[in-house]
Amino acid sequence: MAPPNDPTTDPSVQDLVAARPWLEYDAIAGLVLDDVPLAGIADTVGTPTWVYSAATMRARYKALTGAMNDAGLDVHVHYAVKANDSLAALALFGGEGAGADVVSGGELLKATRAGIHPSRIVYSGVGKSQNELRLALSEDVGQINIESAEELEMLSALAAANDRTVRIALRVNPDVDAGTNDKITTGRATDKFGIAYDDAVALYAKAAAMPRIEPVGLAMHIGSQILGLAPYRQAFNRMADLVHTLRHKGLSVTTVDCGGGLGIPYRNEPAPSPAGLAAAMKGAFHNLDVRLAMEPGRWLVGPAGVLLASVVLVKQTAFEPFVVLDAAMNDLVRPAMYDAWHGIVPVSAIDAVGPARRCSVVGPVCESGDTFARSRLLPPLVPNARVAILDAGAYGAVMSSTYNARPMAAEVWVDGGRWSVIRDRQPIDALWERERLPT
Ligand code: LLP
Repeated sequence: MAPPNDPTTDPSVQDLVAARPWLEYDAIAGLVLDDVPLAGIADTVGTPTWVYSAATMRARYKALTGAMNDAGLDVHVHYAVKANDSLAALALFGGEGAGADVVSGGELLKATRAGIHPSRIVYSGVGKSQNELRLALSEDVGQINIESAEELEMLSALAAANDRTVRIALRVNPDVDAGTNDKITTGRATDKFGIAYDDAVALYAKAAAMPRIEPVGLAMHIGSQILGLAPYRQAFNRMADLVHTLRHKGLSVTTVDCGGGLGIPYRNEPAPSPAGLAAAMKGAFHNLDVRLAMEPGRWLVGPAGVLLASVVLVKQTAFEPFVVLDAAMNDLVRPAMYDAWHGIVPVSAIDAVGPARRCSVVGPVCESGDTFARSRLLPPLVPNARVAILDAGAYGAVMSSTYNARPMAAEVWVDGGRWSVIRDRQPIDALWERERLPT
């Protein structure tokens, strides 16, 4: 995910837009998202603003499930709420038939509030608190993915005290390097996630003997923004071996949750297709008679969102100009946090065809890390020009903060040629409304 060193190989503005059919330049209206001019949204709602294409989310969900069906697999999709937890997105995926993968009590409540039935919710995460586990029990969620022997003990005690039987899967750490950014790789033995591969059989047997605990299968997740299928194949094969071993010992295994992680092309990097992932799943599990599940986030929502921003000023320097935006790392933290590359394109069709020059695109926050792009070839931009930062639908708004006392941006939903605000821009006084001076 590190930025490529050679900006001359960057895709042009036109290439970036052409690769995303939900975006298009109209000579007069400028950049349109599903036929809705982004300039009009910026004029009305202001910037920075997140804008999401519902049609793209829906199309991607259908493409993913279609690829699974074409491979003859019946895969239960639990949308990873963490990628974009807006109620609108949750309701969309719920309406398409997806369940949810949640990692906190907050996500659990948001998913149910958006209409996803608790029986379709899988609760993952390395540190679920007692209160969160109690909530999961009282909501009777479909499955809790257990990440440690300690958590299993905790849940067993709570289940007994609350007189509830709970379906669990063991999240196993397959010790596979997914080859992605270090901060979001999760399946190596040294990562904090999952139960050590060699401990899984004993712990599964122990769980099966516990009252009120019903082990139904295994889960894995080896990382995010994975751009190769080899780590998946390796991990799936290890999971399939475990299923055999467990069954050989007379233990029942009915489900395998294959995790999320499917990467997307932010720049123009080759990315695996859902069909490729389906083939890898089929290769490992086809003769096992297990119910397969997965927890995709980024692949479903990442490309469907843009972050609209305005140019505050262009600072000329002896090196290259700094285009300073009104959006910052508090809005989209991915470049600062993971050195992530995001396409940046002008909203005006006239701006888009100007001669490309190198510039740095930055936010106003007081850190050099508040940089969206370095030495990026972009047409000249002037103050008040609008830009769209691409592929911001996943891990965008959900990771934003109010650092530098900057209110959270508005969120807009585009569907069927119309748009609506799905989250108001945070009012400035909300920044201190729950604070008080010490007595
Ligand atoms: N399931 C589990 C247990 C996870 O931990 C994750 C993501 C997913 C599913 C969804 O993975 P996806 O399909 O979205 O790759 N903030 C980072 C990504 C962190 C991913 C954490 N876990 C980023 O902006 O790249």
